[in-house]
Parts: sequence; C-alpha cells; structure tokens
Amino acid sequence: DMISATLLPGDGIGPEITSSVITILDHLKAPFKWEQHIAGMAAINQCGTPLPDTTLQSIKNTGLVLKGPLTTPVGTGFKSINVTLRQQFDLYANVRPARTVIPNGRYENIDIVIIRENIEGLYAALEHYIPLDNDPHAVAYGGGFNTRKECNRIVRFAFEYAVKNNRKKVTLVHKANILKIFSGLFLEEGRRVAQEYQGRILLEERIVDACAMELVIKPENYDVIVTTNLFGDILSDLTAGLVGGLGMAPGANIGENMAIFEAVHGSAPDIAGQGVANPLALLIASGMMLSHIGRQDLTHKLTAAIHQVITHDGLRTRDLNGSATTHDITQALIKALHT
Ligand code: NAI
Ligand code: MG
Repeated sequence: DMISATLLPGDGIGPEITSSVITILDHLKAPFKWEQHIAGMAAINQCGTPLPDTTLQSIKNTGLVLKGPLTTPVGTGFKSINVTLRQQFDLYANVRPARTVIPNGRYENIDIVIIRENIEGLYAALEHYIPLDNDPHAVAYGGGFNTRKECNRIVRFAFEYAVKNNRKKVTLVHKANILKIFSGLFLEEGRRVAQEYQGRILLEERIVDACAMELVIKPENYDVIVTTNLFGDILSDLTAGLVGGLGMAPGANIGENMAIFEAVHGSAPDIAGQGVANPLALLIASGMMLSHIGRQDLTHKLTAAIHQVITHDGLRTRDLNGSATTHDITQALIKALHT
C-alpha cells in the first residue's frame, strides 16, 4: 500500500539532492506517494510567503514530510521556517544519529544518537534590548523556558527510543551546576523518568561542556544522548563532524502525529546548481523515514547500498575530499541496489 507523503525540495542544493533521493527511493520501491509543494525562497518568490497554505495543508494531511534545506533570508522579517514548522506542529523531538559510514576516519564504529528537545529552551527566543544611557541597544536580554511536562516527554522519548532500538544507555546532558533551575528541572525530571527504565536502560549524566570534550576524545562512551534545545543543536554538529561532516548528517523532527525528515545541513548556496552536492545526508534521512513507517527492511537495503558505494566503490563527493558528482553517487547507488 502506498503512503502519502509531502515532498519539499527546498532551496539551493535542495532540488538536486531531493531529485537524487527520490530516484533512489523509486528504485528501492519505497511505498511513498509524493505530494510535492514549495516552501522557503521558492515560495517567497512565487507566493510572497515562505509557507503557503497549500503546503501547510498537505503537511497536515499527510503528517509525513521529506524536506530539502530551506534558505532563511536574513533581514526580511521572515522567521526561520524550520523553527516555525517545529513549533506549529509540536515536533518536540529532534533525532540526530551520527554513525560511521566512511572507513579510516578519525574513529571507526561511531554510533551515537542525539535526541534534542526541539521547541523549548533558549530557542523560545524571548529576547529584547534594554535601553541604558541613551543607547537603545545597551543591554541584550535573552531568556527561555523549560516546562516539566516537556522535559518528561523528551526524556521519555529518548528512553523509548533506546528500548525500541536495542540501545543500552541514555546520557542526560545538562548544565544544572550553574543553571540550577533552568537546566535543573530537566535533570530532575529526567532522573524521574529514568527510574521507570531501571534495569533495562542504563542512565548516565554529563555536564554539557565536559560532554563536548569527552565526545571528541572518547566517543565510544556514548550511545543515546538526550538534552535541551541549544545544547543538542551544538553537540549534534560536533557528532556530525566525528563521522565526516554535514554531508553525512540526517535528522528527524518527530511529534505525536507528524514527522519531518531532513538533512542537518543548509541550502549550501556556495555550491548550488553545480551538481556536486552530497545527497547522502538527505538519503540517510529518507532511510529514517522508511523505519518510521515500519519498513526497516528497506532501510537495511538502503544502508547496504550506501556501504557498497562508499566503502567498496570508494566514491566520495567533494565535501569528503572526493571528485564524484551527485549524479555519479546516484547512479552507483542505483546499481548497488540492483545487485
Ligand atoms: P550550509 O549547511 O548550507 O553550508 C555550510 C557548508 O557546508 C558550505 O560550504 C556548503 O557548501 C557545505 N555543505 C552543506 N551541505 C552540503 C552537501 N550536502 N554536500 C556538500 N557540501 C555541503 O550552511 P550555511 O551556509 O550556514 O546556510 C545556508 C542557508 O541554509 C541559510 O539560509 C540557512 O538559514 C539555511 N539552513 C537551513 C537549514 C535547514 O533547512 N534545515 C539548516 C541550516 C541552514
Ligand atoms: Mg544547527
């Protein structure tokens, strides 16, 4: 049976990598019936708004989205579309796996999943200036909030993720030594949730700065990490760096009734239109989308094809110091899927 899904090709390299991914998914016989819509700069140019109603309606109807990167224009007054989608559709969990795909890197066998709280914390963007001594911008004030309910929900999501995916350990990452209330509530509620999983999933706690250091020198100490919005944003770029960079980093925004799958990287305007973008981050994200609809069998086929192309054929795009084009990688993946 075919499942309806919304496809947003996105801006910059978005259309190139999306077209590569859709071609590969077709060869994989992925059961998606795509509703293609526009968002981002493409939509601003065509409809004067970054998220047209027809696009929003399709997302509401399908509850399942594959999204290319969207350019957030600077200084136009448009709020980040990614942040808007996360908040509007209550996509509270951002799942960012970092797994070794490329052999002979700094580390082998990295397998870390960061679960980032996606709608609260400092990204509530409660910021403003406070005037002083005739300077209207003398003080920049920033604030945020963490609710007990949301701390409970995100930590529970992480432990449930660990159970379902046969993981052993969840590390709560916080800064409760300094932010005793703001980060302390997350730690307190996290410990409470963890008790329900005692004997099944191991609990560890780390202060975020120490965690950043340890991720670099001893990444094998980590399994599933759960943390608040800003810390998760930063640490997930760090873990992407451990496995080859942004061209290899997928992400999923998950809510109760909706999920948006994307690459962690942006629209890469510096290489857009050249045919050299790495499609793997979005492709691995589409693999997460297949697991999400219960087709782990297809995720495994896709993972095997990526392994074949990267490890055995040795193909690499420019971001991985290779010279393969998006088209080369796409053709090699299609060939790998059929052998
Ligand atoms: P970026 O991720 O687009 O690019 C950073 C660097 O990585 C560039 O040198 C780029 O060429 C390279 N790169 C990124 N993805 C690549 C790929 N798949 N293959 C090969 N090289 C790749 O970040 P930047 O330049 O800060 O942002 C550009 C635009 O993207 C901005 O408008 C930003 O707001 C938006 N953005 C959108 C995101 C999303 O839709 N989820 C996430 C991050 C940024
Ligand atoms: Mg980020």
